Amino acid sequence: MYHGWVYDTDGHLRRAPDFGGDEKALCAKTSLFPVQVKTWNGLIFICMSESPPAFEAALGDLPQALDGIDLPGFKFHSMASHELNCNWKTYVENYLEGYHIPVVHPELNKELDMATYQVQPGKQIARHISSTRTDNPVNGGVWVWLWPHAALNIYRNGMNLELVIPTGPETMKLSYAYFFRDLDAAEDNRRTIETSFTITQEDIDICELVQKNLKAGIYDRGVLSPRHEGGVAYFQALISNILQGAP
Ligand SMILES: [Fe+2]
Repeated sequence: MYHGWVYDTDGHLRRAPDFGGDEKALCAKTSLFPVQVKTWNGLIFICMSESPPAFEAALGDLPQALDGIDLPGFKFHSMASHELNCNWKTYVENYLEGYHIPVVHPELNKELDMATYQVQPGKQIARHISSTRTDNPVNGGVWVWLWPHAALNIYRNGMNLELVIPTGPETMKLSYAYFFRDLDAAEDNRRTIETSFTITQEDIDICELVQKNLKAGIYDRGVLSPRHEGGVAYFQALISNILQGAP
């Protein structure tokens, strides 16, 4: 684009106007950098590594966790993003436990039966499960995190794909793509997104506070709740493996 070069849809250079020399030979040896692309159940996965992990292994237990859910039946609605002043791992740890819900998310807490709330770690994933207290909850559903930085939050009539994107040691971006079964159900869909924004803001506030505490210089490590924080323990074990050079 910069100099008017034209590429095929497969990334090979087709034209390099006014480059000089043998344009045909240049095109024969030039292409965009290849990336690995795989699709599963309507989702597209891109890996920038030249030696990507085996796709099935990277998906881990995601297929089992989402068994019976018609993902391609969701239609794209909109995107939203949020900038956070915290490390991405601070946010993921928060995502991976429901222990904070009664304190941090009062409205969500009214809908969920916290006595049944569980986060179940599996291969490369952790799945949130909870019964609801109301018949028609906005928030009831299946929420699944996929190592290292993605989550699929599936509700009654909608879904959001959440990406946790590190932008610095103490900053990150949260990107949401919202999907719904029925794009014409505007009021329902608006309510779902509005609720999502409220919960996200509550999580942003607590994660930024946690980050301030981490920075205070006193905190070393805490204890994890055996009842609620198995997902956090699993995430920390995966991070530890990476830091120790495990493949
Ligand atoms: Fe939360």
